[in-house]
Amino acid sequence: MKSADHFEFDDLQGLLRFSHGHLTETCFMLLNVSNSIAAKQWLKAASITNASSVHPLPETAVQIAFSVAGLRILGLNERLIEQFSDEFIVGMAGDESRSRRLGDIAANDPKNWQWGGDAQQVPHVLLLLYTKDGLMKNFRRHLEDKNFHQAFQLHSVLPTLDIGLIEPFGFADGISQPKIDWTDKQSTDIHEREGYSNTVAIGEVVLGYPNEYGEYTNRPLVNPKLQPNSEKLKTAYDDVSLKDLGRNGSYLVVRQLNQDVPGFWQYLHKQSYSDTDKRNELAASMVGRQRNGDPLITSRVQSTHNAAEDKNDFTYEQDLQGHQCPFGAHIRRANPRTGDFPHGVTGFFNRLIKILGFGLNKPDDDLIAATRFHRLLRRGRSYGSFISPEDAIKANDSDEERGLQFMCLVANITRQFEFVQNAWMISSKFNGAHQESDPLLGHREPLLSGEPSNEFSRPMASGSRQTVCNLPQFVTLRGGAYFFMPGLSAIQYIASLPSNKDDLS
Ligand code: HEM
Repeated sequence: MKSADHFEFDDLQGLLRFSHGHLTETCFMLLNVSNSIAAKQWLKAASITNASSVHPLPETAVQIAFSVAGLRILGLNERLIEQFSDEFIVGMAGDESRSRRLGDIAANDPKNWQWGGDAQQVPHVLLLLYTKDGLMKNFRRHLEDKNFHQAFQLHSVLPTLDIGLIEPFGFADGISQPKIDWTDKQSTDIHEREGYSNTVAIGEVVLGYPNEYGEYTNRPLVNPKLQPNSEKLKTAYDDVSLKDLGRNGSYLVVRQLNQDVPGFWQYLHKQSYSDTDKRNELAASMVGRQRNGDPLITSRVQSTHNAAEDKNDFTYEQDLQGHQCPFGAHIRRANPRTGDFPHGVTGFFNRLIKILGFGLNKPDDDLIAATRFHRLLRRGRSYGSFISPEDAIKANDSDEERGLQFMCLVANITRQFEFVQNAWMISSKFNGAHQESDPLLGHREPLLSGEPSNEFSRPMASGSRQTVCNLPQFVTLRGGAYFFMPGLSAIQYIASLPSNKDDLS
């Protein structure tokens, strides 16, 4: 059913299995549906890339995702819409308290965004095109046929540019990703695990399968008696009387994060009194890795004899004081790794006591508990031309826009993306911190209590703390939205929906 050889890779969009890293040209289009009948015809005929081809990998790829407005305009009835998660329905910019929790305030406020800031006007469709170098122009000509133009109106093309396997500040990117347990080998019972695992249950990223709780995430299920065209959908694994619109689908979080690259390097240069080694050391401590991707944690668990995997083969268990990698470093906040197996705790009962939240050393220990419920499958691409730290230090303007089209795929937006962004990245209390948030992403606004959030500290082996103050904002949000990336059968179901007026509810 869902074991190695039998997983429905032919029904899964390729991006859930591959990052399409070998396809260096990209075109990410935000579209509005101008004619829903034409749009459904286009969808019926579209070759959306599935996840089945490993050898050879595809030369081009097309992936598609819909906002809630997009699903509505294509005719999905409200009874099904309301079975999607609340945050998807309300939208990333749809309520002020969400914006506050995500750190989308001040310069990041949705009212300043270039797209997606008005939750009522979120583009209907996100079409992601990938090709090998030099093929995009022809590929687009072929794909954007007469029917396409009748069906869709281009809202905008999100900027992207391949600068290699790095992000615009110049650090190696795309190293750490959760491995999806396609073979269903790993038990979701925590007591059967030896330690931190980078492998997560399919249901953490793909809907319609058990997640790390061993449960199915809520998703739209269709009653075939009420929806005769639903025979195109797969039968739900957890209720054979229902068809599963969510199966092989995932939520796609998109945030256009503008990076002030000159501002970043100029600040570090000044803080380091123009000493290049000190500057690079401070930069690495903010990220948690050297620019070439080497982790700051030197005590690795084991060698996998695979260079890429070796860079990711560590936990923070040997660095409880944060002397090697500061607690506030971007990657330590983004994935604290050892939370499921609290430091130094051995034996079933002791572990259980900790997991249940008793016997915490510090009141903040629980903030990093259970990392396996908060993993993100990152699929972003960068934009803007590469500028070296040396040139960035000399640059006297930051006219050129550079940044990340941050994208991640998750089965539960609140429990995964929003939790990581709020409780780990933005939180000024993360892991016992004070007055600081993520050194790369923080908005630097004071808290409601008036306490600042613009510092970054490094615990030193001597017992002291080295703190840098007045961090400027390096990353500013330019746009964002939540999308749903359906499985291929679900796309065909959507394409066959009757138009709204004679909809069956
Ligand atoms: C412009 C903004 C950002 C920059 C420059 C950036 C940069 C980086 C870099 C250099 C790495 C290390 C390379 C790797 O492990 O792949 C990394 C890892 C990571 N980032 Fe970001 N990132 C940004 C935004 C975000 C956001 C918004 C999130 C989530 C809310 C996020 C989540 C992660 C995660 C989960 C990891 C892997 C951590 C681990 O497993 O060790 N990043 N990022």
